[in-house]
Amino acid sequence: MERILIIGAAGQIGSELTLKLREIYGNDNVYATDVKDAPADIKAGGPFQLLDVMDDKHLIHFVIRHKITQIYHLAAVLSGNAEKLPVQAWHINMDSLMNILEVAKLVEDVKKVFWPSSIAVFGASTPRQMTPQVTYMEPSTVYGISKLAGERWCEYYNKRYGVDVRSLRYPGLISYKTEPGGGTTDWAVEIYFEAIKKKAYTCFVSEETLMPMMFMDDAIEATVRLMEAEHASLSAHSAYNVSGPSLSPAMVAADIQRHIPDFTMEYAPDFRQQIADTWPRSMDDGNFRKDIDWKPVFDLITITDVMISEIRKKIKASLT
Ligand code: SER
Repeated sequence: MERILIIGAAGQIGSELTLKLREIYGNDNVYATDVKDAPADIKAGGPFQLLDVMDDKHLIHFVIRHKITQIYHLAAVLSGNAEKLPVQAWHINMDSLMNILEVAKLVEDVKKVFWPSSIAVFGASTPRQMTPQVTYMEPSTVYGISKLAGERWCEYYNKRYGVDVRSLRYPGLISYKTEPGGGTTDWAVEIYFEAIKKKAYTCFVSEETLMPMMFMDDAIEATVRLMEAEHASLSAHSAYNVSGPSLSPAMVAADIQRHIPDFTMEYAPDFRQQIADTWPRSMDDGNFRKDIDWKPVFDLITITDVMISEIRKKIKASLT
């Protein structure tokens, strides 16, 4: 029987992945944890506890006490925020991963670890169209450097200690349940919320900035399938490229206008423009699709339709 620990259960990915894993493995077998309070459905649907992944002693006790077999480590400081406090962000992103890898090495019950990597591992020397799985990687952000170092550590622990750690290089994730914070791809979420609330959005990257994106449901499905796959069928033990559609602010704005014709956009690129300019415009995720038999379901039109209707429901519910 699997017993799962989720670190970062209150975040953008965690708040949705926790519910999916509870559906698969049973509510009581999925321990949601975070350093902050979690949404009501996470707390009501199964065990939730405050846990700081930086506290290695508390972490190992928790894992042993609850006989944890799989760990999903989703906590991180995203790219934009990490540039504001580089040393602290490096410390949080790297030390938390090292704590998890050490626990997985030391505690025999722990059989698998999931840790997300990112398109941020790439940099200015990387080919930006259909970025290959293996290519030049010279990230220029603290977040990207921590993700690339993390990928190398994951592979190291896999090869040297047999820790079965799996990872995906997520593109920008679009979702309505929990908004991300401090990322360079956050505009693709903010734009929908602002379109509904104000019929206007000022975007922090320029209109033609094309970035790989993926709807959260596709990201969750990809993650679950990766974790369920036989170890022998995996060709990458660091991290796989994975992606849905590549989108620019102009493309998303035009699609929102199908629902909100008087929606207007303005552009005020900030420091995140320079980050976006070093990241891929599209990703070649052929290796993952071949190994896992997965492909994304959501395109721009279906993403927009779901985002608009779900955010409207959410706002209506908050008013009643
Ligand atoms: N969404 C992340 C960010 O923008 C990239 O993985 O920081």
